[in-house]
Amino acid sequence: MDGNGRWAKKRGLPRAVGHQRGVEAVRRLVRGLDPMALDCLTLYAFSSENWKRSEDEVDDLMNLMRKFIKSDLEEFVANGVKLKIIGNWKALAPDIVAMLEDALDRTSGGSKLLAVALNYGAQDEIARAAAMAAEAGEITADAIEARLDTSDLPPLDLLIRTSGEIRLSNFLLWQAAYAEMLFVDTLWPDFKPEHLAQALDDFARRERRYGGR
Ligand code: IPE
Ligand code: MG
Repeated sequence: MDGNGRWAKKRGLPRAVGHQRGVEAVRRLVRGLDPMALDCLTLYAFSSENWKRSEDEVDDLMNLMRKFIKSDLEEFVANGVKLKIIGNWKALAPDIVAMLEDALDRTSGGSKLLAVALNYGAQDEIARAAAMAAEAGEITADAIEARLDTSDLPPLDLLIRTSGEIRLSNFLLWQAAYAEMLFVDTLWPDFKPEHLAQALDDFARRERRYGGR
């Protein structure tokens, strides 16, 4: 999810406000999750490279995460959201790890899959999976794939990047092998369920060949 900073800048507001509005965009989208339309929604919330930002901004993002889990977990449970986390999230602050473990536990009975990438980097994910596959003496594509953080998620069909950037920035590189890509100019805080519906509509019109003809 990209564009929080630019959303704020355009309005002369601090970046932190952009991130707050970004959280609201997440809330709106999760509220509108329709399991008939989507098997799983995966959000790239914090990358393993985002640590390079200023300490203040990283603190803001971590505090927003704490606040969001506190304010929204009950609603997630009530709405049947099933949370998954991908990335090296166990390296986050111990109190956040504990909150996430609780959130995973409390949402485990849900059916609307919401995956959140936290401290996630695809190269790191692939390296960890490859190391595990090597440990098992089985370095094949299937063996690596089975050990990715996403091994229990459905295949990636559509990857949407907001804010007009046309790159993947270390997100789901392996899983994107045959995914459809959509790059939209919308800044993340402006992204609404209608934008997702429009993206799914666009996806439905694409012809996928997976290397066949
Ligand atoms: C994405 O918005 C938020 C996170 C990385 C958590 P940005 O902060 O990257 O927004 P821009 O790119 O400055 O607009
Ligand atoms: Mg950005």
